Amino acid sequence: MRLLSVVGARPNFMKIAPIVAELGKYSEIEHRLVHSGQHYDELLSGNFFSDLELPAPDVNLEIGSGSHAAQTAEVMKRLEPILLECRPDMIIVVGDVNSTLAAALTAVKLEIPVAHVEAGLRSFDMTMPEEINRKLTDAISTLLFVTEQSGVDNLKNEGISANKIYLVGNVMIDSLRRHRELAERSPILERLEIRQSGGACRPYGVLTLHRPSNADRRDVLRRILETVQILAADLPIFFPVHPRTRKNIDLFGCASYLTNARSYRDGIVALDPLGYLDFLCLMQHARLVLTDSGGIQEETTVLGVPCLTLRENTERPATVEYGTNQIVGLNPDRILSAARSILQGPRPAYRCPELWDGNAAERIVNVIRKHLAQRA
Ligand code: UD1
Repeated sequence: MRLLSVVGARPNFMKIAPIVAELGKYSEIEHRLVHSGQHYDELLSGNFFSDLELPAPDVNLEIGSGSHAAQTAEVMKRLEPILLECRPDMIIVVGDVNSTLAAALTAVKLEIPVAHVEAGLRSFDMTMPEEINRKLTDAISTLLFVTEQSGVDNLKNEGISANKIYLVGNVMIDSLRRHRELAERSPILERLEIRQSGGACRPYGVLTLHRPSNADRRDVLRRILETVQILAADLPIFFPVHPRTRKNIDLFGCASYLTNARSYRDGIVALDPLGYLDFLCLMQHARLVLTDSGGIQEETTVLGVPCLTLRENTERPATVEYGTNQIVGLNPDRILSAARSILQGPRPAYRCPELWDGNAAERIVNVIRKHLAQRA
């Protein structure tokens, strides 16, 4: 059985890691891991491979940054000869980044079936590049592995036949459960002077921003930072800054919203992007997280950490229904009042969505094995 997985950007790595580990249990499976090179910085890529104990990719396509069309086209051009040479029985793609769609499209045109992990999520917002990637990848995949019931409903509403759809749980949460204890040993809290060794943590928040709709527009980025700065008068807000956002903070003259203080008592404290274990540890102990990331909405749900999503919608409604996530949009009053009631109140009650139990990768690999055995 020959399988090939393609990853490209930061959120792909924690999704593929448990699948790679599971595939490794079967001697009859030959697996190759391809990295598109969409993310190439150590801080966005290499560190995640070591934190997640992922083997180095067998191939790196080294596509680098570029426009959506250029990125997609480069993955397709560079992946095609590898698929022709390796002829896998199926390829596995995860998530919704440009590399996901590009790899799926390349494979399906060579009549190689595609398994899509994290299928069916929909924000119903076609201005999001990820929504386009999700819809198109799902439309051409043979096996659709879904994290939550809304995904199953969305796929059925799009006319996709039920026998392709598998509700299997969440591989990102497999990774979280596997690494949670290890993350506790990260020195990040001491490094940021949030905790003295063995002591209790001082209260703090965490901010992440990278969606083009927030990070690429001067007025929007400025308003978000202005709002978070008000909140940060009461507690430090740690902000690991994505390279896209870092570039725009400088370009838009927004650096003054970030603190230069040496002791982290208050203000928005900009940090370089963190590795997986450091970020998990930082998130785990936060009083509140403000984010526009999809994965962080899911991780805070399982950790029970209050999350305010700085977007008008989510493709992950289970995080609101079961978890601690609130979709607050970009209105400053709404963000501040939600944040203050979190900071003044007790920790909110939450439940874990069905099947987010750490065994999603096992279910996925079982389905793939059965599917390929039936075809043989
Ligand atoms: C991509 C994904 C997004 C995902 C995010 C996680 C798409 C359409 N977007 O967005 O869904 O949530 O990854 O981070 O696929 N850059 C670096 N170093 C790198 C990579 C990028 O400095 O290693 C800078 C470059 O200036 C680049 C910019 O970041 O132009 C954006 O990178 P890109 O991969 O195009 O999109 P992301 O915003 O990272």
